[in-house]
Amino acid sequence: MTQNGSQPRDLNGAAGRPPLIDPFGRAISYLRVSVTDRCDFRCVYCMSENMSFLPKADVLSLEELDRLCSAFVARGVRKLRLTGGEPLVRRGIMTLVNALARHLRSGNLDELTLTTNGSQLAKYVAEIKAAGVRRLNVSLDTLDADKFRAITRWGDLDQVLGGIDAAQAAGLKIKINAVALKGVNDDEFARLIEWAHGRGMDLTLIEVMPLGEIGEGRLDQYLPLSMVRARLAERFTLDEIDYRTGGPARYVRVAETGGRLGFITPLTHNFCESCNRVRVTCTGTLYMCLGQEDAADLRKPLRASEDNDLLFAAIDEAIGRKPKGHDFVIDRRTRQPAVARHMSVTGG
Ligand SMILES: C[S@@+](CC[C@H](N)C(=O)[O-])C[C@H]1O[C@@H](n2cnc3c(N)ncnc32)[C@H](O)[C@@H]1O
Ligand code: SF4
Repeated sequence: MTQNGSQPRDLNGAAGRPPLIDPFGRAISYLRVSVTDRCDFRCVYCMSENMSFLPKADVLSLEELDRLCSAFVARGVRKLRLTGGEPLVRRGIMTLVNALARHLRSGNLDELTLTTNGSQLAKYVAEIKAAGVRRLNVSLDTLDADKFRAITRWGDLDQVLGGIDAAQAAGLKIKINAVALKGVNDDEFARLIEWAHGRGMDLTLIEVMPLGEIGEGRLDQYLPLSMVRARLAERFTLDEIDYRTGGPARYVRVAETGGRLGFITPLTHNFCESCNRVRVTCTGTLYMCLGQEDAADLRKPLRASEDNDLLFAAIDEAIGRKPKGHDFVIDRRTRQPAVARHMSVTGG
C-alpha cells in the first residue's frame, strides 16, 4: 500500500512490485534529487571556493533523471524535491520539472518542489508555478548584504530578495531555511523571524552538518540550536505545536508573530525514527541516509537496459539496507568531517 492507502500503480513496469519499505518498517515516500553538483554560490559551510565539479558524462541526462524519479514514483514515492548544487542552474531544468509534473496531474505524486538559493528564481518563477509547483524552500542565512556576500562568497542579496518577491507575487508558498552560524548570523535570528513571518513565510533554522572538506573548521561554525532556542525564548513566546512537514524539522509557533519556526538539529537523532526519505545524486548514486557513506549506484542499472527491471532490483536491494540512523560527529581531535561528501553532492 502507498502512503495514501492506494495500491501501487502500473507505472514503468512497476506492476506487482511492492512499495518501498525499509528493514525498520519505514515507508519510503520522499525522494530528494540533486540535479546538479554545480552552483552559482560558494557558501562557506557548503563548498570550498575552488570546487572541482563532475565531468558531464558522469551526470545523468534530464531524460535519465526523469526515468529515475518516475521509477521511484511508481514504487510509492509521493513527494519529490529537486535540489543541488543549485537546481536552477542546471541547463534545461524546466524540461525536467515539466516532465515530472505529469505525475502531479495523474495523482501519483502529491508534491513536486525545489530547494533553491533563489538567485535564478525571478527568471523561472512563472514556469515553475505553471508546472504545478506550490511551495519552494529558499535558503537565506542573513538579511545583511555584506554578510550575505561573505557567507555565499558570490551571491547578491537583492537578487535573492527579488526572486522571493516574484515567487510570492506568483502565489507560491515560500519557506526560508537559514543555517545557524556562530559569530556570523547569530545576532540576526530575531530579525529573520520578524521578516519571514511578516511576509507569511515559515522560517527553519538548520544546524551546520559536518559534510565535506570546506577548508575551514566546522567547530568554528557550529552553533547548537538548543542555545539559539533558549536565547529566542527570552524574547519570544515559543509554543510547541504538532505541525510536521514530513521532514525532520520540529516546529514552534511564535506567539508574537503568529508564524512558524522550525529547528533542524541533525546532530541529534530525533528525526531518524520517522525518516521516510532517500536521496539521489546527479550521478544516480542513491544515499539511504544523509549521514552515512553507504550508497548504491543506480546509474549502471539505469543505463544497462531500457526497461526498469534492473533499476527496481537495485533500488530494492538498497532500501533493504537503509540504516536505522546517522553517525554525525564533528571529530574534535582531527577536525575532519564525519562524512566526506559535500552537501552540494547529496543536496541537503
Ligand atoms: C546544498 S543546498 C542545495 C539547494 C540550494 N543550492 C540551496 O542553497 O538552497 C540545500 C540546503 O543545504 C544547506 N546546507 C549546505 N551545507 C550545509 C551544511 N554543511 N550544514 C547544514 N546545512 C547545509 C543549505 O543552506 C541549503 O539550505
Ligand atoms: S548551500 Fe546551496 S547555494 Fe550555497 S553553495 Fe551549497 S548548493 Fe550553492
